[in-house]
Amino acid sequence: MALKIAVLPGDGTGPEVVREALKVVAAVSKLEKFEYTTTAFDFGGDRYLKSGHIIDDKDIAHLRENFDAILLGAVGHPEVKPGILEKGLLLRVRFALDQYINLRPVRLYPGVETPLRDKGPEQINFDVIRENTEDLYCGNGGIMRQGTMQEVATQEMIATRFGAERCLRYAFEYCRAKKASGGGKGMLTLVHKTNVLTFCGDLWFRAFHEIGEKDYPDIKRDYNHVDACCMWFVKSPEFYDTIVVPNMFGDIITDLGAIIQGGLGVAAGGNINPDRGGISMYEPIGGSAPKYTGMNIINPIAAIGAAAMLLQNTADKDGKFPWRKAGDRIEAAIKKTTPRMKSQAAGKMGCSTSEVGDLVCEVL
Ligand code: IPM
Ligand code: MN
Repeated sequence: MALKIAVLPGDGTGPEVVREALKVVAAVSKLEKFEYTTTAFDFGGDRYLKSGHIIDDKDIAHLRENFDAILLGAVGHPEVKPGILEKGLLLRVRFALDQYINLRPVRLYPGVETPLRDKGPEQINFDVIRENTEDLYCGNGGIMRQGTMQEVATQEMIATRFGAERCLRYAFEYCRAKKASGGGKGMLTLVHKTNVLTFCGDLWFRAFHEIGEKDYPDIKRDYNHVDACCMWFVKSPEFYDTIVVPNMFGDIITDLGAIIQGGLGVAAGGNINPDRGGISMYEPIGGSAPKYTGMNIINPIAAIGAAAMLLQNTADKDGKFPWRKAGDRIEAAIKKTTPRMKSQAAGKMGCSTSEVGDLVCEVL
């Protein structure tokens, strides 16, 4: 069966990094002998400015019905008011396709510089599993008496047992599988703020321990308040194995995670619907970097990493992962490419965007 990839290059430097990611997919498909197709869509800032169209129900249904996975470049356009594309495209797809897991590995690859003194690839190697459909991201709330001194704004934090439970179960399973493959110590850390968020935090905390005690007694359960977690990311990142966290705190700690793993040029993530038939979307975490657009100096490693994650995590209709080995091969090639680059920062890599893609293919 041919793997059907929908490609959303998006805005700014998105198309440049996606091009390199697809170059690497083409190379690995020859080595691993698998068939695939790519179909590009022009959703993003330029189309929105021309036509007012972002993405609608029909587009989403088309993606759901015709593809196995989505590769996204970047969302965000300097001439579009912040929030419009983020909400209208990125969050819309995440919610509509029920991509309830945001998987963000925090791995320092060899030769990549981290701002943390005395830490290397051994110490910075963990996974964050962020809930991706609930919490403050639901958009519930409102403003009343706007523009007056009596103005009131609310933004509701929403946690459901269903939403927490499916995310927690994914995290326990992930942690268990990682331990079984020799890649982790079998410890899952819940990150929240239970000392203040005594309702939502309590729901997550109880669900975490109930599910863990009953179904995952082999996994050690650990808990951090989110503020303390930020401190530990910097002081002792080696402590972590797998982290599970609700949406907003997950958003914040994964930017911290991205910077300790060498920056947005290398950090990849997946918006995953792990249910049978679910369509997931993989992306470099960094934005559209308008000031570097078209210069061939942006780092494509994150996008190549996103393509690797796509291959590793996409299931076929029997629930098997036929492209996983191809994804693992790309990841291994990235680890051999980064030491050959001068830096991971745009314009300082010692080579161009397209040369990084070539290098990964050569290493493959
Ligand atoms: C991310 C981004 C998005 C988020 C924004 C653009 C809506 O920051 O993917 O982390 O907050 O989830
Ligand atoms: Mn973010």
